[in-house]
Order: sequence, then C-alpha cells, then structure tokens
Amino acid sequence: MKKIRFDVLTLFPNMFNNIINESIIGRAIDEGLVEINLVNIRDFTQDKHNRVDDYPYGGGAGMVMQAQPIYDAYKSVAKEDTTIPVIYLSPQGKQFTQGIAKDLALNDRLILLCGHYEGIDERILEEIVTDEISIGDYVLTGGELPAMVVIDTVSRLIPGVLAEDSTKEESFSDGLLEYPQYTRPEEFMGRKVPEVLLSGHHANIKKWREEESYKRTLKKRPELLNKRGEN
Ligand SMILES: C[S@@+](CC[C@H](N)C(=O)[O-])C[C@H]1O[C@@H](n2cnc3c(N)ncnc32)[C@H](O)[C@@H]1O
Repeated sequence: MKKIRFDVLTLFPNMFNNIINESIIGRAIDEGLVEINLVNIRDFTQDKHNRVDDYPYGGGAGMVMQAQPIYDAYKSVAKEDTTIPVIYLSPQGKQFTQGIAKDLALNDRLILLCGHYEGIDERILEEIVTDEISIGDYVLTGGELPAMVVIDTVSRLIPGVLAEDSTKEESFSDGLLEYPQYTRPEEFMGRKVPEVLLSGHHANIKKWREEESYKRTLKKRPELLNKRGEN
C-alpha cells in the first residue's frame, strides 16, 4: 500500500490541528495512508531563553529564524537519510501547480520547512533545502498555510485517499478546467440541470462535458490552453 509521510518543521504546530482532525485528510491519517509528523523547531533551540530568531545582520526590519534549531529539527527526522526532499515554503519558490503535486506524490516522505517573521538564515536553506515552493505571488506571515496547501493537494493524490477516478477528470488533470457539476434538485430557482445530464446517454454526456471543459477554460483561464501537456 502506497503511503506518504510529511515531516513538518514549524514554530506553530497547532496551526495544523484542523487539517489533521477533519474531513478527507483526517480520514486518510486514520487509515494510515498519510502521516503528518509535526516538529516544533523551538524544541531544538540551545538558547536559554528559548529564542529561535535574531536580528538580521546588516540591519532592517523584523527577525530572522536562526539556522541551528532548524538544522537540529531537520536531523531529528531525516537522521542520516539525505534522499528525502526538503521543501522550503517560500514566496521566492517555484509556483505550486497540480503537476508539481503529482510529482511530489510519488515520494514516500517529504520534509516541509515553514518560515516565519522575515524568513530564514540563508545558510540553512543552502545546507538542507532541495526545493522551494510558493503558493502564489503574495506574502503570508508564515509557511504553515502553504505547507497545508501542499499536504492537502499531495495527499488527495495518494491512491485510496479519494474514491478511484475522482482525480482523473478534475481541473488541471489534462490542462483544462472541469466541466460544470450539478446535483439534486433538477430545478433550482428556475434554473434547470442541462437536459443531456438527465438523458443517461453516456457518450453524449462525455461529449458535452468535454466541450464545456474546453469552453470554460477558454473563458476563465485561456492561458492554460497554451500550456496543455505540461501538467
Ligand atoms: C513574511 S514571509 C518572509 C518573506 C521574505 N522576507 C521575502 O520577502 O521573501 C515569512 C514566511 O512565510 C512563508 N511564506 C510567505 N509567503 C509565502 C508564499 N507565497 N508561498 C509560500 N510560503 C510563503 C515563508 O516560509 C516565509 O519564510
């Protein structure tokens, strides 16, 4: 059985409580398909006041996370294994996509490093980080929400986490957005479910969905059509 383990290096492990306890990811953890090991970087500080950050050399606003506690937190989970990808969630990273999520889901283990404050001492990034991932061109207060985005997106691609086939036709799976979805009732505030979906005619339904997928991609995200095949 394919499983994936995420070791999350963070100063704020409690932020992950919701993802661990709720819904699909919570169930995947209960079933042993996904493991999330939260490592509090502060537990590894050697500072007698438990500090994990300090002023930036050269001056400037904010605090920088120090290298030593992060390195020791990393060693506590990686041990001597240098083959585990270490992903630093960073606004400077490569933009996260469904294609990157699919590649990451091939791993058995991922180490996710969450920054906070002004960021992390560059030397630890050089020493341990293999990939930098951004969830978009905006700046958050910390890497915890981006780490949850990566965990959620990658976990649902692990076989058994979702019903078989549910990830095959969804948005981005073949470079298109998904077709419109409807459920009961057949009519809501005068708006009817498209006739073809009630017809039971599988070939026509498939054709309609393909056309709708194409049309809405053209309308909402036309640039995706040029990138088809990349994801
Ligand atoms: C306030 S940000 C630091 C930004 C940094 N001073 C800069 O300008 O590049 C603090 C932390 O939040 C995380 N973060 C912020 N925005 C992010 C994004 N768009 N994607 C991934 N991580 C992000 C990173 O872990 C970062 O170290």
